[in-house]
Amino acid sequence: MSATAVRRVRLGAAFVLLTYLILHLLNHALGLVSLDAMEAGRRWFLALWRNPPGTLALYGAITVHGVLALWLLYQRRSLRMPAWEGAQYGLGLLLPALLVFHVVGTRIAWWHAGTDDRYARVLLIYWVMAPERGAWQAVVLAAAWTHACIGVHYWLRFRPWYPRVAVWLLAVALLLPAAALAGFVAGGREVQALARTPGWTETLRRETRPPGPGQAAGLVRVRSGFLDAYLGALVAVVAARGVRALWQRRRSVRITYPSGRVVTVPLGFTVLDASRAAGIPHASVCGGRGRCSTCRVHIARGLDGLPPPREAERRVLARVHAAPDVRLACQTRPLGDVRVVPLLAPSIAPTEAPEADVRQGHESEIAVLFADLRGFTRMAEHKLPYDVVFVLNRYFEAVGTAITGAGGVTNQFTGDGVMALFGIDDGPAVGARQALTAARAMVERVAALSAELAGDLPAPMRIGIGVHAGPAVVGQMGWGQSFYLTAVGDTVHVAARLEQATKDYGAELVVSEEVARYAAIDLSAFPGHDLAVRNRAGRVGVRVIARVATLDLTARTPS
Ligand code: FES
Repeated sequence: MSATAVRRVRLGAAFVLLTYLILHLLNHALGLVSLDAMEAGRRWFLALWRNPPGTLALYGAITVHGVLALWLLYQRRSLRMPAWEGAQYGLGLLLPALLVFHVVGTRIAWWHAGTDDRYARVLLIYWVMAPERGAWQAVVLAAAWTHACIGVHYWLRFRPWYPRVAVWLLAVALLLPAAALAGFVAGGREVQALARTPGWTETLRRETRPPGPGQAAGLVRVRSGFLDAYLGALVAVVAARGVRALWQRRRSVRITYPSGRVVTVPLGFTVLDASRAAGIPHASVCGGRGRCSTCRVHIARGLDGLPPPREAERRVLARVHAAPDVRLACQTRPLGDVRVVPLLAPSIAPTEAPEADVRQGHESEIAVLFADLRGFTRMAEHKLPYDVVFVLNRYFEAVGTAITGAGGVTNQFTGDGVMALFGIDDGPAVGARQALTAARAMVERVAALSAELAGDLPAPMRIGIGVHAGPAVVGQMGWGQSFYLTAVGDTVHVAARLEQATKDYGAELVVSEEVARYAAIDLSAFPGHDLAVRNRAGRVGVRVIARVATLDLTARTPS
């Protein structure tokens, strides 16, 4: 079975168990109403789970979840892990042993001895006959709920909508067990009061048919048998890990890190296992489950000695447009010596993971716009520096809002120049139309600003804009806190050249034929030229638009 299939099956089993747990807690919470309400809720609960399909789903999920947890324990090379993961693992491995007492005393007793495990009977045991077992049961329930909540959080946290609903889920995560505990206490108090009524306990015992001595001994055997088998399975897994480690110690690989440190690990370790075993900080937001891409490394040497990525890893790498020499550290088990360079800071947070995906850069087709304020240098010479800053900020506000209003991303403000990107998410067709819309809005806003500041300006402000569309590498660039989204490549170079050409043509806008083609706008009414671009073999076909106001964005290309 592939790793993806295993993950899906495990997720499906976890979902069944989570549903069971939520309904169980809700049923307990009905104790806040009354013992009768708890019993009524339990009848619905049993109708769902105590029938052949419900039983199969529940016990099938328990078996699958448990077996896969043991399998993952075996698979995992290093047991060093972040605290949250350790807590989830530890609780998950403890839960079967903790829950077996409750399950044998209720469901198995019902099967084996026909005992009615209604709330009154269970609460009588937990609150009157053996209160320490009641307290223990509350702890077990909290452990199961904590295990489930960690799992849900780490499963969902990469979903784009998760930050919006996280606070509500947290409220549910806290309120539901609190309500269940309160219901458990209220129900227990009610049973304590009823137990003081003469004859109530005897009647309850008669009605619920407790197991006889022989049946009780059988239940103890079931419980001990399960505990022995579970402990045996755990010991077998640990022993298998030991045998494998001894076997693999005979063959090892060396992993070299950028600091020059060389870590020798047995064959079969992932790169992330090696980092963890050596105590080298390594980003692994999803805990090494191949879901986040934050552990990715550039393979500087030894790429050929790596097994090819499996489907799950391939999918994640494709999603982040990873270069061919980039692999997920948590999924890559080197077969020979390698040299790796982790690509993300070890301290990266889950919320940063999606942006981190783009830092590496990926090629996409976009529209790029350059704009420049004409004659600004001359104007600035005659103004006080503070006045220049004031005018520039007003200008940037005018063009910036025009760009973002059209759907673009302002990228660079240098001097009086602006660079903007369009269509990063939506592609070049949308991007080209957005860039033309932005160009028109920019000219209008600069004209309005110029009129407003007329008394302060020696001449009206004029702007020249160049737009080109095509492939570019888009990514976050910078250092430390100063990362910003930008693009590099021929398309950017040509767009800058078109902006310069506006001066030669005395025009407000020069756009390439590519932009017209992508935007499906008919620009044949405007003069066309072939423009030479430095360091570029072919010439670029352009349309020169002297006044942007004459540009009709509805003039679609005849099909
Ligand atoms: S740690 Fe998340 S993909 Fe490797």
